[in-house]
Amino acid sequence: MDVTPDLRSLVTAFRTSAAISTAAELGISDELASGPLTLAQLASRVGADEDTLGRLMRVLVALGVYAVSTEGLYAGTPLGDGLRTDAAGSLRPLARMLQDPATWAAWGHLTHSVRTGDTAFEALHGVDVWTYRAAHAEAGAIFNDNMTALTTRVAAAVAGAYDFSGLETVADVGGGHGLLLEAVLARNEHLRGTVFDLPQAVPAGPPSTASDSVASRWSVVAGNFFEHVPAADAYLLKKVLHDWSDERCVEILRTCRRSLAPGGVVLVVELVLDRPGHELDSAMSDLNMLVLPGGRERTAAELDALFVAAGLEPARLVDTDTDVVILETRAGR
Ligand SMILES: C[S@@+](CC[C@H](N)C(=O)[O-])C[C@H]1O[C@@H](n2cnc3c(N)ncnc32)[C@H](O)[C@@H]1O
Repeated sequence: MDVTPDLRSLVTAFRTSAAISTAAELGISDELASGPLTLAQLASRVGADEDTLGRLMRVLVALGVYAVSTEGLYAGTPLGDGLRTDAAGSLRPLARMLQDPATWAAWGHLTHSVRTGDTAFEALHGVDVWTYRAAHAEAGAIFNDNMTALTTRVAAAVAGAYDFSGLETVADVGGGHGLLLEAVLARNEHLRGTVFDLPQAVPAGPPSTASDSVASRWSVVAGNFFEHVPAADAYLLKKVLHDWSDERCVEILRTCRRSLAPGGVVLVVELVLDRPGHELDSAMSDLNMLVLPGGRERTAAELDALFVAAGLEPARLVDTDTDVVILETRAGR
């Protein structure tokens, strides 16, 4: 069987990614949201060279991201509408994040990572992603927007999959904008919650979508989870451990264990490697962790080993009907 065409499209897939990321950066889907535009109108609205934009649009039309009429009017499509800023779970921040030259260049350095085990981003730029995002406010904001958009896709399912009755306080550690916390508080009227994150990432207040009831039970604390976390009956750690080496994960988990109320739980929400139906997504995310923050995705057994090293019990796995699972662990006896 001749597999060359498939292999070629895999080899050149970065060009597709670059074209879509450029459309996201320019905000083309936002501009087409109010109706079809000529190329000249679109170029003027997004601040692009008309001829070059036409070349980009030819590719994006061929991919089905946009459509063009015989009269030369460009329009959105259901696929391209996923890049609109106002789309639920918009992929625009993800595409814009990849477009950041520092991130793009780090992926070009994957071979170095595989040869050496080094984190590509740090080897190339001399700083870790958190230091870079703290120094580059726009890149930091796009990263946080992306995490929020991705969390929007799973927050309700994660909040609904776990029984929070019997708990009074919950802290969303490394919680970003706190979208998961919002979903948990919305479903559990008895809970009070705190979103905890670095000073540059912590939100000013509850998300704009939060109800008055959620807002009244919401607080924010800025800090470093290697030093402390706010006391709570339950810690949510969603997509936090995958950013870090085993040693650093054990430090984060120990910090949580120290402040955990008696009988409390640590709820780790992660992709898990080798889970049937999610193999490629989790394996690709694992490479992303290698290239960018220097962490890794793990199997449930590998996560259990970290819990035990931090003085916690092996986890009970709770399915969420999404790509992530909840690993519920408690203080070991
Ligand atoms: C991959 S994001 C996950 C965000 C959120 N939990 C979600 O799933 O949408 C990791 C989070 O950890 C935070 N973080 C990184 N280092 C931290 C530290 N030392 N202390 C507290 N938060 C930290 C980042 O700012 C970021 O919000």
